[in-house]
Amino acid sequence: MTTSATALGAPITIAGLTKTFPSEAGPVTALAGLDLDIAAGEFIAVVGASGCGKSTLLRMLAGFELPTSGILEVGGNTVTAPGPDRGVVFQDYGLFPWLTVLENVAYGPRQNGSSRKDAAERAERFIELVGLTRVSQRFPSQLSGGMQQRVAIARVLCNEPALMLMDEPFGALDALTRGSMQRELERIHHEMGTTTVFVTHSVEEAVYLADRVIVMAGGISHGTPGHIEAVVPIELDRSRDVNAAQFTDYRRRISGLIIQHENDDE
Ligand SMILES: Nc1ncnc2c1ncn2[C@@H]1O[C@H](COP(=O)(O)OP(=O)(O)O)[C@@H](O)[C@H]1O
Ligand SMILES: [Mg+2]
Repeated sequence: MTTSATALGAPITIAGLTKTFPSEAGPVTALAGLDLDIAAGEFIAVVGASGCGKSTLLRMLAGFELPTSGILEVGGNTVTAPGPDRGVVFQDYGLFPWLTVLENVAYGPRQNGSSRKDAAERAERFIELVGLTRVSQRFPSQLSGGMQQRVAIARVLCNEPALMLMDEPFGALDALTRGSMQRELERIHHEMGTTTVFVTHSVEEAVYLADRVIVMAGGISHGTPGHIEAVVPIELDRSRDVNAAQFTDYRRRISGLIIQHENDDE
């Protein structure tokens, strides 16, 4: 399949990024002073304890929330609103239950003005990419969780975004399905070259998928704004062997970074 020609990932620039939310007790700073450059096509995993601002960062990249201050650019453009250059995959699939798999995936191109025929052809390519051709006429309720998440991924990729944002996308899947989705996503990322920012609670998943793992810490409930604690490049060949000693070393090191900062505030 040759979809990658037009799907070049965008670089991301994050500098001095801060997000403050209003609250009854006055403004609270959820994130402060984030600095991070992401290369075009890079796969970034974001880990850290609950409340450290992972979803807030993702929502700002998506354009659902605006930064309070700082620089946030995708492909050289300041993010001011959601756009078709950025696709978001959530844990709960977010499919339209009244549309078939094909119609769900074709929805984006249709919205962007493609003819029914062009949109369907395009959707079929991405349904093939995620291995669902034989169920393309089914409705979401007739599919397993893993299959629904594949549809959600195909639907985002069908818009050929420059950036794919994923917020704990495999969190609701059983362990076996999750493992196969990770391998699938690795293959798709290799084929498409879409810059990807992937939030997960699983350090193993992060080490398996990412070029670099971003460890975040802090958060409102810790009395200190969420921030980037460490950036860990994963220098392992693909496909990665989760049982290899080096893999385990990365896992331990990153888990240690997360636990250390959870304990800081106790
Ligand atoms: N819209 C909002 N209004 C007020 N507070 C928010 C809002 N969104 C997130 N927060 C707060 O920001 C902090 C970070 O949340 P979040 O980004 O969801 O963390 P994570 O995804 O790492 O668990 C939390 O304390 C959360 O309550
Ligand atoms: Mg979250």
